[in-house]
Amino acid sequence: MQFPEYRPRRLRKNEVFRKLIQETSLSVHDFIYPLFAVPGKDVKKPVASMPGVFQQSPDLVVKEAQNLTALDIPAILLFGIPEKKDEAASGAFAKDGIVQRTVRRIKEKCPDMLVVTDVCLCEYTSHGHCGMIEKGDVDNDTTLEVLAETALSHARAGADMVAPSAMMDGQVGTIREALDEGGFETLPIMAYSAKYASSFYGPFREAAESKPQFGNRKSYQMDPANSDEAIREMTLDVGEGADIIMVKPALPYLDIIRRAKEEFDLPVAAYNVSGEFAMIKAAAQMGWIDGEAAMMESLTAIKRAGADIIITYFAAEAAKLLQKG
Ligand code: PBG
Repeated sequence: MQFPEYRPRRLRKNEVFRKLIQETSLSVHDFIYPLFAVPGKDVKKPVASMPGVFQQSPDLVVKEAQNLTALDIPAILLFGIPEKKDEAASGAFAKDGIVQRTVRRIKEKCPDMLVVTDVCLCEYTSHGHCGMIEKGDVDNDTTLEVLAETALSHARAGADMVAPSAMMDGQVGTIREALDEGGFETLPIMAYSAKYASSFYGPFREAAESKPQFGNRKSYQMDPANSDEAIREMTLDVGEGADIIMVKPALPYLDIIRRAKEEFDLPVAAYNVSGEFAMIKAAAQMGWIDGEAAMMESLTAIKRAGADIIITYFAAEAAKLLQKG
């Protein structure tokens, strides 16, 4: 193909041609919307670094879930902030913990909403790390038991899928086994397989009150410089029984999403994280970019890279735009 015989601009002439040859289109059915539950009633606290995102009490999370159903958003990813944090992360697996209570209420009032729960301990530990601390570092194998117990408690509360995000070795297999033994062999696992030690989680840690009180997460989350290692992580998770593999963050890691899509025969999820959201919101507020256009362009790019599922704080806004057509 050569100019002047081939002129790519012929098919960009107008909107009809452009739509006709469009390769990627966004669908609301691919979105998962993250929500943050806090104890109390009628509580709705804005997260300063994430305009439009709130910490909400279970009653209001239920309301929000109902609104999302009206927008055709199929699924939410639930995070919880407990009454109190401790060394043992006991709020994470409590039968009446914040996530467990909230899941029960959502499934009661909004049974068609798919409820995915984040399985991690950083919101529940007093030190803010994703696991049990021993000798100054996060201990892998003792953490596994706590994660399994947490996942099982979410399943018992009615969660439709669990999403382990602690980046402990063996977490998917341990959780799979616990679920199977507990009678939840049909409950799928969406594994945060390639989760990087990223600076783009900053705003989330404000929303989830989960900033590590010492050190960082580099002894369990991945080095942003690595790509082959992501494949090894995903291979492990697939072997341990993951139903969906996830890459997180999304935009700085589109190459990893593409490799995941090409190298594995499983649905791929991408987490368009809090920092990615906050940057667009902030620049738009300054009038430096068109926020809506940047949002749609980002989501399209994530899908084009190979994501089947996009977890995003933009889900509701993007759904409204998609509805308008
Ligand atoms: C938790 C968890 C994190 C995010 C999702 N699950 C934070 C972290 O690892 O510190 C980040 C999500 C976001 O930034 O939007 N364990």
